[in-house]
Amino acid sequence: MNQVIDRIHKIGTTKNKTNTPQTLQSTIEKQMGAFISMIIKNDLSIKKTLEISSNYGFSALHVCSATKDRPGAHHTIIDPIQTARGDRTYIQNLSEAGIAGFHLVEKRSEFALPELAQTQMGQFDFIFLDGWHTFDHSLLDCHYATRLLRVGGYLVVGDLSVPSVLHVVDFIKSWPCYNEQSSLSKPLSDSRNKQLSRLLLSSISRQTWEHFLAPRLCRHIFQGDALQMIALKKVCEDKRDWHWLNHRFP
Ligand SMILES: C[S@@+](CC[C@H](N)C(=O)[O-])C[C@H]1O[C@@H](n2cnc3c(N)ncnc32)[C@H](O)[C@@H]1O
Repeated sequence: MNQVIDRIHKIGTTKNKTNTPQTLQSTIEKQMGAFISMIIKNDLSIKKTLEISSNYGFSALHVCSATKDRPGAHHTIIDPIQTARGDRTYIQNLSEAGIAGFHLVEKRSEFALPELAQTQMGQFDFIFLDGWHTFDHSLLDCHYATRLLRVGGYLVVGDLSVPSVLHVVDFIKSWPCYNEQSSLSKPLSDSRNKQLSRLLLSSISRQTWEHFLAPRLCRHIFQGDALQMIALKKVCEDKRDWHWLNHRFP
């Protein structure tokens, strides 16, 4: 692993450009960073990467460290508050790690992504989404990310512990252009209510319940772990017609 990542993990803080330590907040955890690295390292064709958003540059460090030795590797970061926050910590961290192939688009994703889509449709090999977590924002990010990804590229979505983000992922997973490649989960405690619900529902299979209950509720009852991150592979162009999914809203 990169020494800067290693150090930040160990001490739990990062430094801004005036060398003031800052406690890491709203940033990916160690196993999530390892998940991102694993997806990128397993596919040598990944060079052109995009991320929404970067905060202290910690997720960017994982992406860029994994592609660092690949010729032509370049990382685009969309994050609206780097200058406003005044510290530009992400640059400090990336520079210290010896990474130069990146640039920041300092705008909100709802404005930056449509602009990117006008010139760079289908050009990214890997996109990591970890921006503003409302349902509508997450869906908008996924919509544009799907246009920006090439066929064979990966969409990784973080923070699935946030219900609105999980709802969006449950929806986009059903798009024919995506195959679930891999996911990261953490164990959940098994409450009495869950055990009782499982017992009551056990006469019928989980697959059958999935037709009647929301995916999130099914997962909550039947599954012993909670999804944290998911990697979807774009396997074909998104060719859904205007009436796609109308059967779900009769
Ligand atoms: C969860 S943090 C990202 C953490 C980062 N991926 C990491 O692991 O280090 C959320 C980020 O969303 C950014 N953000 C807030 N509103 C946004 C918007 N409208 N579009 C894009 N990013 C936004 C914030 O600047 C913040 O850096």
